[in-house]
Amino acid sequence: MKKTIDKIPARLDFLQSVTGLILAVFIMGHILFEASILISNEMMYKVTLMFEGYYFFGERYPGIISFLAAAIFVIFILHAGIAMRKFPASYKQYKIMKEHSTRMKHEDTSLWMIQVITGFMMFFIGSVHLYIMMTQPENIGPFASSSRVVDEFMGPLYFMLLLAVVSHAFIGLYRLALKWGFMEGKNTERSRKIFKLLMKTMIAVYIIIGLASLAKYTYIGITHDFSDGVKYQSQTIKFEEHK
Ligand code: HEM
Repeated sequence: MKKTIDKIPARLDFLQSVTGLILAVFIMGHILFEASILISNEMMYKVTLMFEGYYFFGERYPGIISFLAAAIFVIFILHAGIAMRKFPASYKQYKIMKEHSTRMKHEDTSLWMIQVITGFMMFFIGSVHLYIMMTQPENIGPFASSSRVVDEFMGPLYFMLLLAVVSHAFIGLYRLALKWGFMEGKNTERSRKIFKLLMKTMIAVYIIIGLASLAKYTYIGITHDFSDGVKYQSQTIKFEEHK
């Protein structure tokens, strides 16, 4: 009798890797674009206009941002949904994993646990942020974003999301590189060490950039007088209404 091999687990694994890779690349770009606020308000405004298609169509279409956020949301849900099957299913399973990781000082098992915890956090805080971006794409800009961070109390949520997403993304990329054989070769031990150092450096660099941006949005949110509205007035590009 012909044996049938169940290909579904391998396909799910592949889909999880691909969606993870897309999200990691997205977040690396996201944090840098959003750090444009560190250069100037005008620069962040121009980046926003770019994503609204202004430099391509000559007009602003915030709907493009909604579409992008919806697409990312779908990939995010898919990635989280597939990952759920790897969560420890009971407290007993969790205890075994935890003991294994502390007793063996097995760093890769600890990394896996960080992925589970940060992934779980993002289920909630990532969804809140994505939903707001999808439904209020016209409220993005140096002043509108700063007002959201301070007046709408998104600051603490962004702080937690930043720590979770940056760790999750780079640990995820490290595990992908391991899985796809980038660390094989003459000296596996050495290349593992190099990749691990790269992972930790990237986590530190991105967290520093993210924290600096968050500090700047908070500073603008606290010091700027929003009494005439939260829309930014560009010095160089004139519209009837600015954000
Ligand atoms: C297309 C989808 C997305 C858009 C348009 C978007 C846009 C933005 C914008 C404009 C800000 C600045 C603050 C604000 O305006 O409220 C921000 C902050 C942030 N976003 Fe997103 N975002 C998206 C998806 C995501 C995803 C999927 C994650 C992670 C799961 C994420 C994580 C963050 C974090 C951590 C911050 C604060 C960053 C910092 O501390 O510098 N974003 N996002």
